[in-house]
Amino acid sequence: MTFTVRAPAKVNLALLVGPPRTDGFHPLDTVYEAISLYDDVRVAEAEEWSVSVVPVGGVDCSGVPLDDSNLALRAGRLLAEHHGLDRAAAVEVHKGIPVAGGLAGGSADAAATLVALDRLWDARTSDADLLALAARLGSDVPFALVGGTARGTGRGELVDPVPDAGERWWVVVPSDEGLSTPAVYGRFDDLPDPAPGDPSALLAALAGGAPIGELLRNDLQAAALDLRPALADRIALVSSYAGTALVSGSGPTVLGLAADQDRAREARAALLEAGLPVVHVATGPVAGAHVVEWD
Ligand code: C5P
Repeated sequence: MTFTVRAPAKVNLALLVGPPRTDGFHPLDTVYEAISLYDDVRVAEAEEWSVSVVPVGGVDCSGVPLDDSNLALRAGRLLAEHHGLDRAAAVEVHKGIPVAGGLAGGSADAAATLVALDRLWDARTSDADLLALAARLGSDVPFALVGGTARGTGRGELVDPVPDAGERWWVVVPSDEGLSTPAVYGRFDDLPDPAPGDPSALLAALAGGAPIGELLRNDLQAAALDLRPALADRIALVSSYAGTALVSGSGPTVLGLAADQDRAREARAALLEAGLPVVHVATGPVAGAHVVEWD
């Protein structure tokens, strides 16, 4: 028997970052949105653990580790351990989410693996336990389970869905070279603290279906730009076609928020014409990790 689970990429509509805690993590007040770029994870019973990666839509998968550090494998082993099961699985990741791009693709794989193996093993893990296991795997993994639009606090792992009457269309511009999340947080610590903020105006606009372009904020953007100065030109280019642009999470993916689907497609065409090799159009919010196939 096999199960395939689809999990979405995330963007942060607000990413407010505080000074590091004693455990080294940074306190976050973030608003996540799940968008329609996906990894599909297929699991099958096997004697030994293994993971393989299949690129979808030309995603460069060379940066994905295939050893024990792979987050999907770690998720599988953690679920087996949680239930005291001496079982293994072959995990196949069909990767449509750009790697090391600030879109939480690795977290999507971990979330999808938890859900897929829970079904394969008929383990019936409670929602609370799944969320707790997800949080142990990474700060963004619980959100990949929940999806939609949600506020994240703690180090990002405490996730509460929020009302969202809107539908957004994004232009998603990956870079050919990723950025390391710890390196971006490290640079954040070297830069002046950002002004304190709170996402209440953004949350009100989401609930009312009002425009949010002016309310987007990413406190990691300055650090990503400091590490990768060429991103400034890219942000300007994307914003000239899409309206508003910002770095996604810890970067280096640049997001453009278009007024609607047609404008997003037009912006994509114009950016390809301008010489960018890869530009995706994605919409959100979309569902969190869910089963799409079994046989
Ligand atoms: O939680 P996750 O394993 O995805 O985090 C990767 C790295 O990003 C952490 O080791 C830490 O350096 C940094 N991080 C942080 N504060 C957060 C989330 C991540 O400093 N809230």
